[in-house]
Amino acid sequence: MQYSQRAQSVAPFYAMAFGEQAASLEAQGRSVIRFNIGEPDFGAPPAVQAAMQQAIATNDLPYTGALGTPQLRAAIADFYRTQHGLTISPARVIVTAGASAALLLVCAALVDNGDEVMMGDPSYPCNRQFVTTFGGDINLVPTNADSHFQLTTSLIKQHWQPHTKALMIATPSNPTGTAVSLSELAAMCEFAKAQGAWRIIDEIYLNLSDGEQGAPQTALAHDDDAIIINSFSKYFGMTGWRLGWMVVPQSMVEVIERLAQNLYICPSTPAQIAALACFTPDSLAICEARKASLLKRRKRVLDGLYDIGLKVPVAPNGAFYVYIDISDTGLTAMTFCQRLLDEQGVALTPGNDFGVTDADKYVRLSYATAESALTEGLSRIGMFVNTL
Ligand SMILES: Cc1ncc(COP(=O)(O)O)c(C=O)c1O
Repeated sequence: MQYSQRAQSVAPFYAMAFGEQAASLEAQGRSVIRFNIGEPDFGAPPAVQAAMQQAIATNDLPYTGALGTPQLRAAIADFYRTQHGLTISPARVIVTAGASAALLLVCAALVDNGDEVMMGDPSYPCNRQFVTTFGGDINLVPTNADSHFQLTTSLIKQHWQPHTKALMIATPSNPTGTAVSLSELAAMCEFAKAQGAWRIIDEIYLNLSDGEQGAPQTALAHDDDAIIINSFSKYFGMTGWRLGWMVVPQSMVEVIERLAQNLYICPSTPAQIAALACFTPDSLAICEARKASLLKRRKRVLDGLYDIGLKVPVAPNGAFYVYIDISDTGLTAMTFCQRLLDEQGVALTPGNDFGVTDADKYVRLSYATAESALTEGLSRIGMFVNTL
């Protein structure tokens, strides 16, 4: 008996592997600081938690429609009106089991054998798996600090192929926390559209970004038929609730509905009911306060790394990640992460998770963790670097 070639070729996710090692060290009684985890430590806003308890106590919780409840789809559409001044029909909003399911559905809908999807290196590792699962090829375009580790119009023109079917961009990005400027994003979308390619813009960290002129702006403002991915996981602190959404062109709704019906029937019913409480003024105020606290943590981490002498070539302007250049230590990213965990009990993620270009030179630190842990973790990183 054999597993599929596809399953066997799926690369390991080092962030998880270091997470497992960290858990096993903790089980042995060691103190571990987890800077490897891409999730906020806040949890859902209290009103959402209360709504979940009520939903479980008072509802039968049957399946919902595959595209989500009409109430939640309308609430998300309204969020675009209040946040971005955009009028979007709720019919174009599709509620999913996290941004992960949205990305999976989009790839199922768009990618045929031999189609190519362009994305930057480094970028969110699962995207490569979503595309290859449906027989697509990845055009992984090397980026560097000069372009803030993001694609640019010039890079995509240089690497464009006749069979490039879609462009995938996360802004701000995981692992670097850096955003693409709005003008650059608009220009890239315009170019891809002119080639007849889809634009898949992952805005999971948009509401945790600094924005250019105050409030963060969605790519939809510039490209009305881009596919926009988002989630309740990060800004609303609901990673384990498995709830996300996407906004798609009206013509795509029907194909996504058939795929969602067949692939997982519907997103979690209680999570959908409870998520309505995300959009109250109180919950949004709580999320904004958390965003401000993440900003404080970012400054604390950047200052701490500077004092240690570790370079951050591009300061993040969103999400909760810092991409650190560790090449001056003489260690590869994997060795740096392994030794730091073994010797000082601090878990980071090696750049190798996110691509190949210069991956050995970088490690990702997630500062979505309590300030006391940040202080302790930075002090341990300092001690480790001093021993090298
Ligand atoms: C860029 C990006 N997209 C998508 C996801 C998936 O998020 P979820 O499925 O929890 O909504 C993540 C998770 O870390 C991410 O960093």
